[in-house]
Amino acid sequence: GRWWLLVPAAGFGRRMGGETPKQYLRLGGRPVLEITLSRFAGLPGLAGVVLVTSESLPEDLMPSSDVVGVPIHRVDGGASRALSVRNGLAVFRDRWAGLSPGQGDGLTDGLGEWVMVHDAARPCVLRGDLERLLDAARYPDGALLTAPVRDTIKRVDADGRVTGTVDRRTLRHALTPQMFPVGVLLEAIEQGLVAGAEITDEASAVERLGLAPRVVDSATDNLKITHPEDLGIARAILRRQGV
Ligand code: C5P
Repeated sequence: GRWWLLVPAAGFGRRMGGETPKQYLRLGGRPVLEITLSRFAGLPGLAGVVLVTSESLPEDLMPSSDVVGVPIHRVDGGASRALSVRNGLAVFRDRWAGLSPGQGDGLTDGLGEWVMVHDAARPCVLRGDLERLLDAARYPDGALLTAPVRDTIKRVDADGRVTGTVDRRTLRHALTPQMFPVGVLLEAIEQGLVAGAEITDEASAVERLGLAPRVVDSATDNLKITHPEDLGIARAILRRQGV
C-alpha cells in the first residue's frame, strides 16, 4: 500500500553546540537532511514526504524534492519532537476533515494509509533495514527499527548502589524509522499530549493505547547525530556504505 514519510527536522541540536542545527550541517559537502531524505528514494509505495522544520528555515536549506523523488510538503515544527510530529500529522487530519475515503486530494485517500516517521538526524539508515521495516508494517500495531543492547544494564538506587541486573535480552534501543497506520499514530500522539505523557518516540505514544508494535532489529549503522563527534563517525559510516 501507499505510505508517507514524516521527517521531524525542527530541532535546535543544542547538544551539538554550534549555531546551525545538526540536520543542516554538511557531511561530505551535502546537508545531513538531504542525505537522510535520499535514503528513501525509490522505496515501493512512498507517496510523499511531510517535512517538519522550524519556521525560520532559510530557503537554501529547503531540500529539493528531486532528492527523494516524491513531493515534499513543509510544515512548521513545535517546541518538542512530539509537537513537531503532531504538526506533521495535522496535514493528514486537516485533509481528511469532511472527506470520505477515496475523495482525497492527492495528499491522501483515507485513514488506511501508513506513515513512517524518521529523524532528520539519522542519515546512515540502511536500505535493507528500511525494506525489512516495510515488510513488518503489515502488523496493525506498527513496527520500529531497534538495536539490541550490547552492555550489561544495572538498576541503581538514589545512592548509586546497584540493586540488580536487567536481562538485556529483553531490552532494545528504539531507533527510527517507526511506522504506523496514520489514524493510529494521530490518535496516539493527540492522547499522549493531552495526558502530558513523556513521548520520546512514536511507539511510546502508541503503546499507551494498549497496542504492541513489533521490533525490527537493525544494523548498527543507524546512528543519530547528537554530539559533535558523531559527525565524524557518520562520515565514516557513509563512506563505508559508499554514499
Ligand atoms: O533532539 P533529538 O535528537 O531527539 O531529535 C530527533 C529529531 O527530532 C531531529 O531530527 C530533530 O530535528 C527533531 N525535532 C523536531 N522538533 C523538536 C525537537 C526535535 O522536529 N522540537
